[in-house]
Amino acid sequence: MITTPSAVPAWSQANLTFEQFERIAGLITTVCGIVLTPAKCTMLESRLRRRLQANGLESFAAYVELLADPQRRAGELQALIDAVTTNHTAFWREPAHFEFLQAGGLAALLPEIADRPLRAWSAACSSGEEPYTLAMVLAEALPAVSERGFTILATDISTAMLQKAARAIYREKEVAPLPERLKERHLLRERDGSGLYRVRPELRRRVRLAQLNLTDRIWQLGGPQDLILCRNVLIYFGQGTREQILRRLCQHLRPGGILCLGHADHILGCTLPLRMLRANIYQRL
Ligand SMILES: C[S@@+](CC[C@H](N)C(=O)[O-])C[C@H]1O[C@@H](n2cnc3c(N)ncnc32)[C@H](O)[C@@H]1O
Repeated sequence: MITTPSAVPAWSQANLTFEQFERIAGLITTVCGIVLTPAKCTMLESRLRRRLQANGLESFAAYVELLADPQRRAGELQALIDAVTTNHTAFWREPAHFEFLQAGGLAALLPEIADRPLRAWSAACSSGEEPYTLAMVLAEALPAVSERGFTILATDISTAMLQKAARAIYREKEVAPLPERLKERHLLRERDGSGLYRVRPELRRRVRLAQLNLTDRIWQLGGPQDLILCRNVLIYFGQGTREQILRRLCQHLRPGGILCLGHADHILGCTLPLRMLRANIYQRL
């Protein structure tokens, strides 16, 4: 019996030339600040092959052409951003920040707040693990939640990640890093044997998800923040963009407010109205 090998689609073998890489990488930096060094050429090639397929294209030359046309680019840009952002995150990631809040960092914020809700912002929230972890910590540490309460604004540039955050359903492996007590109190285990966990609606209601590009000049945050988590995103930007964003973060943080950066982020070389409290934890002057 003769079997015909299934044809290998052209998009799956398309190669990205260095010139095409530079064109696409340049557009990405312009749109969302992410700097891709030439070492990322292979990564970009493999991540974008699916975009060729989705657009019915066979080569990166055709994709670059699509991106050069303002009208076609407008329809592709979000998918391009979703494809190139690195969204790695986890519940209880870099616990030193949450432990700092539990051990008095949060209490120190309260006198300034009087009886309004505490305002926190997770500024690159990816698929939601960070803002939901924070929500659990705040719910535990502010027992009088009903009186004072808190709100968390959770933003990201990736709509694919925001959709996952909005579902607020996670696999057992994903929720595993959370302390048992938080898991028990704030997650619901699905009863269908799927091993999935859902964030309790009371907690979800405290987290407002929105798309926000950190490189945009104007951020609509609804008032100065008491606490900002901007973790593991600044590393993707160039020094100038990083500095501009840090300056704007300070403008949106009220005096005495707390800023937590990721372990790989730093504020070296930037003059900012911040004093360091712990590694990667700063207070607005
Ligand atoms: C590595 S994840 C970090 C997630 C989380 N903060 C944490 O530390 O676990 C980086 C996130 O930054 C987002 N991001 C990248 N560029 C951005 C931009 N210009 N504006 C807003 N978010 C951006 C990505 O979509 C991604 O979800």
